[in-house]
Amino acid sequence: MPEIGYKVPVSFPTCPAQIVSEDPRLSTANHSPLRPQHDDRLAFFRGFLKRPKEVASIIPSSRFLERRVMRATRADEADLIVELGPGTGGTTRALLAAMKPDAKLLAIEINPHFVEVLGRWQDPRLIVAEGSATDIRQILAKHELGAPDVVVSGIPFSTMERPIGRDILRAVHDVLEPGGAFVAYQVRDRVHTLGREVFGRAMIQRELLNVPPMRIYRWEKQAGEAGAQ
Ligand SMILES: C[S@@+](CC[C@H](N)C(=O)[O-])C[C@H]1O[C@@H](n2cnc3c(N)ncnc32)[C@H](O)[C@@H]1O
Repeated sequence: MPEIGYKVPVSFPTCPAQIVSEDPRLSTANHSPLRPQHDDRLAFFRGFLKRPKEVASIIPSSRFLERRVMRATRADEADLIVELGPGTGGTTRALLAAMKPDAKLLAIEINPHFVEVLGRWQDPRLIVAEGSATDIRQILAKHELGAPDVVVSGIPFSTMERPIGRDILRAVHDVLEPGGAFVAYQVRDRVHTLGREVFGRAMIQRELLNVPPMRIYRWEKQAGEAGAQ
């Protein structure tokens, strides 16, 4: 797999990310500009304590994992990326650092506390949507976004009911641009079993320096392939 450059973010543009929530407290107008996120790890850990099955990790992804996911994602080539489960945004920051200035990133996060953290970010390319990956089609439509080139996911397939995992993977396959890629980083291999049914064979890498060690799967939707039923 060709490697892409990975840049550490040094600055962000100045327009706030759009944040979409029914909860008026989460309006972007109430948020201060981006500041260094020293408390991300604490917010992540608190999120885990409140919703352990959904968050499924006590710490966010390491830089090692972020780098490997960026290479698998080829974010620098994409016009539209969807991220499922951005958490407090380590992977999101890495995606934005690699992305083109005119590309878009739709981040779909189920946890309102993490949505609030991400809503403070200052990048016009980022749209933060509170919701479930299950609703990826509707969320893309709501934002009048077309087919993504890449969907990247950190959501824990191993702790959700298999039918829900299958539905999410089918929906991801449906929405992807033909030739587009689905990248998932996971501790366990449930996503691999389910993903094979929907996408076929995956390319698999491992990042052993992450705690815990993580598998990175990349599938491609074949050009001309119809959406999964
Ligand atoms: C293991 S954390 C990954 C966080 C971050 N991307 C990272 O690498 O550090 C999983 C994230 O997926 C979110 N999540 C779980 N189920 C989800 C779903 N159905 N839709 C959207 N987000 C979900 C959790 O709230 C959590 O933020």
